[in-house]
Amino acid sequence: MKLLMAANWKMFKKLDEAALYAKELAKLAQNLPPDREVALFAPFTALRVCADNLGASVALGGQNCYPAAQGAFTGEISPDMLLDCGCSHVLAGHSERRSIFGEDDAFIGKKCAFALSSGLKVLLCIGERLEERDKGLLKTVLERQLSGDLSAVPDTVSDGDLAIAYEPVWAIGTGRVAKAADILEAHAVIRAFLERRFPALGKKMRILYGGSVKPENAAEIIALDNVNGVLVGGASLQIDGFSRIVLAGNA
Ligand code: 13P
Repeated sequence: MKLLMAANWKMFKKLDEAALYAKELAKLAQNLPPDREVALFAPFTALRVCADNLGASVALGGQNCYPAAQGAFTGEISPDMLLDCGCSHVLAGHSERRSIFGEDDAFIGKKCAFALSSGLKVLLCIGERLEERDKGLLKTVLERQLSGDLSAVPDTVSDGDLAIAYEPVWAIGTGRVAKAADILEAHAVIRAFLERRFPALGKKMRILYGGSVKPENAAEIIALDNVNGVLVGGASLQIDGFSRIVLAGNA
């Protein structure tokens, strides 16, 4: 299973910055170590210019989509529109969507199933809040999110079409990266769930870590058991920093 090194720009970058970055990332992707792949989750407005500049070696994804083919959903974007802009991937369940926009597991579940059935690959983000962790609820929260968010996903989903990003809410944008033991514990919970939920394929699905990943800590994180890549926010905004993350630990 190859590592997936993914950038999530969140609500950053206008067209000119996006184009420059995408050109640089495309160059980097020409000489990737054979054990890894790169994906970029860009804002909707920058998707087309990214698609035009990335080339085939970098996967492009939207940060969100609405679970309907089309219709009267002002301000929303369908999976088909993402495909039309050159996307192969979409994020679902990011903690910022959950906490700022009130998305719950039932809605995220619809989104995952609809996006997959539309032909997008889904990177589902889950993670506990600090107060949940402090109450010893890590496993409960992760399993509740996974079971709700994946409830309508067919058992036969391809292992390449679905990946999970473990992003502890307290580590996102805080500079406070989870300790190795925390990441190992959470990823083991997720792996066990995936193996139960998708008996044939769960062991082959990628589990990424996200939350204050930096060039300085990426190598240690991707060396951990059951860590199959990273999802990077702040440190992905500069191409130099993200390039160092993409190449992290590569001898
Ligand atoms: P940071 O890397 O800025 O902590 O953000 C992580 C994240 O939310 C990626 O989706």
